[in-house]
Amino acid sequence: MTVEVTSPGRVNLIGDHTDYTGGLAMPMAIDLHTRVWGERGGDTVTVRSALEEAPAVIALDVADPAAVQPAWARYVAGVVAELRPATGFDGQVATTLPVGGGLSSSAALVVGLALALGADGSDPAALARRCQAAEARSGIPCGVLDQMAVAAGVEGHALLLDCETLAFEPVPVPGDVDVIVLDSGEERHLADSAYAERRAQCEAAAEVIGPLRTAGLDGLERIEDELLRRRARHVITENQRVRDFATALRSGDYAAAGELLDASHESLRIDFEVSTHRLDHLVGALRDTGGVYGARLTGAGFGGCVVALTEPGAVPWTTPVRASAGAHVVTMT
Ligand code: GLA
Repeated sequence: MTVEVTSPGRVNLIGDHTDYTGGLAMPMAIDLHTRVWGERGGDTVTVRSALEEAPAVIALDVADPAAVQPAWARYVAGVVAELRPATGFDGQVATTLPVGGGLSSSAALVVGLALALGADGSDPAALARRCQAAEARSGIPCGVLDQMAVAAGVEGHALLLDCETLAFEPVPVPGDVDVIVLDSGEERHLADSAYAERRAQCEAAAEVIGPLRTAGLDGLERIEDELLRRRARHVITENQRVRDFATALRSGDYAAAGELLDASHESLRIDFEVSTHRLDHLVGALRDTGGVYGARLTGAGFGGCVVALTEPGAVPWTTPVRASAGAHVVTMT
């Protein structure tokens, strides 16, 4: 059986480092894609990539996906270990996404592969959960934001996403604004201890004041540790910014939407401490550009990309990203 799948990357408009505490985020799938195509059958999952010298050759009973070589094959192995497909696959993968650039190239690959191997795509939330579990098996301790954006994307819309229930509301991205994404050129290392450390700090704060998802700012004074208090303050204020951003976008109040983007960046920089000099510099340069409503780092931070909301054509040397449909099977014969 021949199958071809297309799977988009994502940019998170607002709501970072909220997903793993069951908070809110507003990502959109974008018009940069990964394609997976090939034949189902055989007793290994073999995938070649134009970007990688060695193919991924994964046995259907692979035991330890995080130890597989070459390193990129761990994603393939994670999907195989999670889905345990009855038959193998022999195919290829290609992408227009910058790999490791903060636009969820890994989630695009994992969701695309899962569909190519036969995962049920009819319920995007269930697919996203499985793909998050697949990434965890491959050694990446991520939340569910990226997989959900990739699986559930709606053309022309961002998703107001509840990361606890995975309920999502498509919010139209208006035609009279541009969403632009600029790469800082700094490679992120998600598996790095800093991401796991932030997660642990959020859990420690939640032990004092209860789930951050429902906690109010008044609870913060009960957290004695100053660092944990700042981490929790970021998450609590960011959840509110997501709600406010959705309202601003819906009502066409782009100035307010831009201010929320700026405030999100400051919170990620000061309270959550996941920005870098280069990201701050890029955000500052964008804010100084006429027609830019607001800008922030997007995704995990520690490098990667910034996102900005602008008047159409305000940053003419880059092509705006467009909100795209989620991952889907293009042909199956
Ligand atoms: C990475 C993770 C996501 C999320 C973001 C930060 O992209 O994969 O799950 O935690 O960082 O919002």
